[in-house]
Amino acid sequence: MGLAAVILAAGKGTRMKSKLPKVLHKICGRPMVSYVLDAAASTGVEKTVVIVGYGAEAVAREVGEAVEIAYQAEQLGTAHALMQAGPLLKGRGGRLLVLCGDTPLIEATTLSELARRHAEAGAVATVLTTMPKDPTGYGRVIRDNQGRVLKIVEEKDASREEKRVGEINTGIYCFEVSGLFEALEQVGPANAQGEYYLTDIIGKYVYEGRRVDAVTVENPAEVAGINDRVQMAAAERYMRGRIVEDLMRAGVTVVDPPSTFIDKQVRAGKDTTIYPFTFIEGDTVIGEDCIIGPGTRIARSVIGAGVHIQNAVVTESSVGDRCMIGPFAYLRPGTKLGKGIKVGDFVEIKNSQIGDGSKVPHLSYVGDAIVGEKVNIGCGTITCNYDGRDKWLTCIGDGAFIGSNTNLVAPVEIGAGAYTGAGSTITKDIPAGALGVERAGQRVVPDWSGKKKRKKD
Ligand code: UD1
Ligand code: CA
Repeated sequence: MGLAAVILAAGKGTRMKSKLPKVLHKICGRPMVSYVLDAAASTGVEKTVVIVGYGAEAVAREVGEAVEIAYQAEQLGTAHALMQAGPLLKGRGGRLLVLCGDTPLIEATTLSELARRHAEAGAVATVLTTMPKDPTGYGRVIRDNQGRVLKIVEEKDASREEKRVGEINTGIYCFEVSGLFEALEQVGPANAQGEYYLTDIIGKYVYEGRRVDAVTVENPAEVAGINDRVQMAAAERYMRGRIVEDLMRAGVTVVDPPSTFIDKQVRAGKDTTIYPFTFIEGDTVIGEDCIIGPGTRIARSVIGAGVHIQNAVVTESSVGDRCMIGPFAYLRPGTKLGKGIKVGDFVEIKNSQIGDGSKVPHLSYVGDAIVGEKVNIGCGTITCNYDGRDKWLTCIGDGAFIGSNTNLVAPVEIGAGAYTGAGSTITKDIPAGALGVERAGQRVVPDWSGKKKRKKD
């Protein structure tokens, strides 16, 4: 029998002061619990059980189909939480990793090492420990004078002397499954918090003369449990550093890592450069040789190769190879740009398709439009797509030239190679190759300023 994992995730996370279950709070764009699931999966566990309770439905939905769910109706403590996995694991044999949903920075290599050392030592329980700068709030690992683990004491139950111990319980363990659930049934709630502590198992095993071991993690940040939003921000900073480092090692230049905010799911190609004050979020893919930022936010979008985007916001859009976006452009959901397109300053595009080689260089709004290839959209052009009730489509054929300050009142179609005169309000379709112009004839009043001046005198 191999390795299984239980992830404790039933707690409310009272100290978060939130409606959302703690383990669903996001770190670099992903819920905490999903990092723990990934670490378990990368360790090669055969079976994962997630204990849910507070916000059970939402947590179960998040963790998905690949794991099994056990429900802890009342959150009576970590031992009680683990007991809920009994029916799914009892009689299985093998080893069990116990993880907490609120320890998202844990790495698979550490879990593998924990399982390996546990097996090597022939222990019934091995606890993962660390030495943080400040151990306040954590359970302390009490050892005898030969360094053997005796028990774990929670902060609230610790004597003054025990509180001085710097080594803490990370809440991560490896257990032999055989006998574990029987032992858990003997844990009682006689402690300061009136809870069933999983940590009591350690002292109990030692008392029975069974072998308990500990593995110490060098870097306390990796196993930090998150209980409040201050700790969450620290974890986010740490994770962000790790993500940016992975990207740099894969060939992406990140000019200033501390001011670059990239979510876990983001992919970026080689020789892409990311300038400061840039946020790249969700399932975003960026190609090779791009220049992104400064001051850019890209969310849930696909960006081709050789694209330049500066001081722009791009959400749920796709941008083809060699496009030049910004400064100060806003690509809203449903924007699909072909290749080699220029979207310049103060341009907003929404739910529109634009063909290869077209240009929208300045001060335009393009919404609900299908624009062909090599179209030039003059400065100040506006698609009037909304009549107060419905949204309407604007179609512009290949090679069309839209004069500056044109209003295109949708629904309207401009044929291939057609022109609109600058300043026109176009309400009727323009056939291919034609010119549409809508403009009152210009009047010139000679010496108007002179006459005005003389009148005043
Ligand atoms: C726990 C440990 C402590 C350790 C610390 C590390 C115990 C008694 N204490 O304390 O020694 O230093 O973690 O971070 O185990 N949970 C449930 N059901 C419950 C209670 C908790 O599923 O009834 C889950 C929580 O959702 C959380 C995890 O167990 O993911 C840990 O619970 P928490 O209340 O945060 O324990 P700590 O007080 O931090
Ligand atoms: Ca905790």
